[in-house]
Amino acid sequence: MKKAHECQPTLNDSQVFSFCRDGYLMLEDVVPDEINQRTTQFIDQYGKGLHRTLLKKDWFIDNVLLNSQVIGVIRSLLGANFRLPVKLPNHRANCPLPVQAWHRDGGARYGCELNHVQVFYYPQDTPVELGPTEVLPGSHFLFSLGSWMGHYGSIRGSVLTSAPAGSIYITVYSIWHRRGFSTATGIRNMLKYKYWRTSPPTRDWILEPDFDHRPSGQFDIPSVQQQHRNWYDAAEMYYWLCGGQEEFEAMVGSKEWPPGYAVPGQMPANHHNF
Ligand SMILES: [Fe+2]
Repeated sequence: MKKAHECQPTLNDSQVFSFCRDGYLMLEDVVPDEINQRTTQFIDQYGKGLHRTLLKKDWFIDNVLLNSQVIGVIRSLLGANFRLPVKLPNHRANCPLPVQAWHRDGGARYGCELNHVQVFYYPQDTPVELGPTEVLPGSHFLFSLGSWMGHYGSIRGSVLTSAPAGSIYITVYSIWHRRGFSTATGIRNMLKYKYWRTSPPTRDWILEPDFDHRPSGQFDIPSVQQQHRNWYDAAEMYYWLCGGQEEFEAMVGSKEWPPGYAVPGQMPANHHNF
C-alpha cells in the first residue's frame, strides 16, 4: 500500500488559483477499468456500510483513495500529511429520477480557509442521461439559506459533471450542487468522501515564477458572483493557501484594490483632485 505522505504536488500556481476560483476540478478516467468494475461489484454485493468494508481494501485504497493523479491534487491543496477519508457514502440513484434541489452539504462554512476537500468518484460511465451531479462554479463563496436555494431552477454557468467511468472530481465542500435530471433506466453509483489537512498552509506546490493572479481577459467566466467579487474571493483563498494572509491584506488595502484604480503616486495625467 502506498503512503499519502510520499506523494508530490502536481498543481501549479495557475491551477491552484483556478481551483480557488471555480471550487472544483475534474479528473477524467483516472481509475483503471478493472478497479471500477470491482468497485461496482463490491457495492452491488455489500450495499451500505462501505467504510467498514470497501474503505479497508488495499486495492481500493491504492487505486482510488491514493490514486496518483488524485493525491497529487490533494497534496497541492491540503499540504503534506493530509488525512485519508474515514467515511464512504454511496449516492446510489435508481434512475430515472427528477432533478434534485440545489443545496450545499450539511455543516458547510463559507470563507477562504481550505482545510478539507470533498471528492466524488464515478465507478461507471455517467452520461447526462444518468443524472450526474451538477455544480455551480464559484458558488462555494456564495452564502444562501438552504431553504431558499432549493427553490432555484436552472442557473446560468452551472456545469454537469458527466464523465466516463473512473472519473474523480474534487470540490470545495461548500459548493452548490444537485443530482441532475436523469432519463435513462438503471443504477448510478457515486462515492463521496473527504480528505483533510493536518499541516499549516504553505505555497509548496509547483511554483510559476511569473504567475500573476490578477484578473485577465479570461477571468470573465460566467459567475454567480458580482462585480469582481469572484476574483477577490479566489485571491483571498489563494493567499490563504500560500500562508500569506498579510500579503493579501496589503494588496487589497493598497495599490491593487479596488480594481481599475491607478497605483497611488502614479495617477494618470488627466486625474483631478477635488
Ligand atoms: Fe449533496
